[in-house]
Amino acid sequence: MNKKPFSCMSGLMGAAALVLTAVMSPAALAQDDAAAIERGKNAAMVCIACHQANGGGMSIPGGESWPRLAGQDRDYLVAQLKAFKDGTRDNISMKPFSMMLNDDQMMDVAIYFESLPFPDTTNVTVNADEALLEHGQKLVEHGDWDRYIVSCQSCHGPGSQGVGHFFPNIAGQHEGYIAAQLKHWQDGSRKNDPQDLMGSIARRMNDRDIQAVSAWLAKQEATSKE
Ligand code: HEC
Ligand code: HEC
Repeated sequence: MNKKPFSCMSGLMGAAALVLTAVMSPAALAQDDAAAIERGKNAAMVCIACHQANGGGMSIPGGESWPRLAGQDRDYLVAQLKAFKDGTRDNISMKPFSMMLNDDQMMDVAIYFESLPFPDTTNVTVNADEALLEHGQKLVEHGDWDRYIVSCQSCHGPGSQGVGHFFPNIAGQHEGYIAAQLKHWQDGSRKNDPQDLMGSIARRMNDRDIQAVSAWLAKQEATSKE
C-alpha cells in the first residue's frame, strides 16, 4: 500500500482531533476527568499505603514523611513522578512506584489525587515555639533581603496556595516533608526544579530557617485551587 495518502490521512485526522479538543465542551472535559479519576483511583491502590486513602499523607517524626498529594496540581504531580523515574529527584521510596507507571497512568493518578479535597490541618502540632513560628512567617511572607532569601509567597502565591503548574501548593504540607525537601535541594539529591529556583533559595537557608518555615507552613491551611 502506498504510505503517503495514509500518513496524510492520519495527519488530517490528527488535526481534526486537535480542533475537536479545542472546542470540546466543559461537560465533555468533566467526563474525561471522571474517567481518568476512576482509572487513577485504581492505580492509586498501591500508593495509599503511604499517601493514605484521603491523599493526606502522614508526618512521621524522625522518619521520612509522606507528602500530602490531595488537591495538588496534576501537572506538578506528573513532573515529580517523571523526576523520580529519571533520577533527577533521587528517592529510594518513590523510585520503584514511579517505575510502575507509564506517562498516561501518571496523569490518571495525578488527576485522581488532584481531585481529592484538602485535608483539615487546623489542629496540626509542630516542633516550634512562638519565636520560631514568627521567624517562619516572616520568611514566607517577606523573605530576608539581607541574605537574598526571596519570600516564599512571591513564587508560591498568596497564602502559599500555589500558582499554575510549576509552583506547587505548600500550605498545610507536612513539616517533616517540607524540611526534608529543602535539605534535599541543599545536598543536591533533588534537582528537578526549573532553573534551580528552589535550589538557590534552599542553599541560602540555615537549619533554623528551614525548621521555622516548615513548622509555620505546616500550620497553615490549604484552601484554594487555581
Ligand atoms: C512506601 C511509601 C510510598 C508509596 C507506596 C508511594 N509513595 Fe509517593 N512518596 C513517598 C515519599 C517518602 C515521598 C517523598 C520523597 C522525597 O522526600 O523526595 C513521596 C513523594 C511522592 C510525590 C511527590 C509529591 C510532591 O509534593 O512533590 C508524588 C507525586 C508521589 N509520591 C506519588 C506516588 C504515587 C502515584 C504512588 C503510587 C503509584 C506513590 N507515591 C507510592 C512514599 C511513598
Ligand atoms: C523563585 C521562585 C520560588 C521561591 C521564591 C520559592 N520557591 Fe519553593 N518552589 C519553586 C518551584 C518552581 C518549585 C517546584 C520545583 C519542582 O518542580 O520540583 C518549588 C517547590 C517547593 C517545595 C516542594 C513542594 C513539594 O510538594 O514537594 C517546597 C517545600 C518549597 N518549594 C518551599 C519553599 C519555601 C519554604 C520557600 C521560601 C523560603 C520557597 N519555596 C520559595 C519556586 C520557588
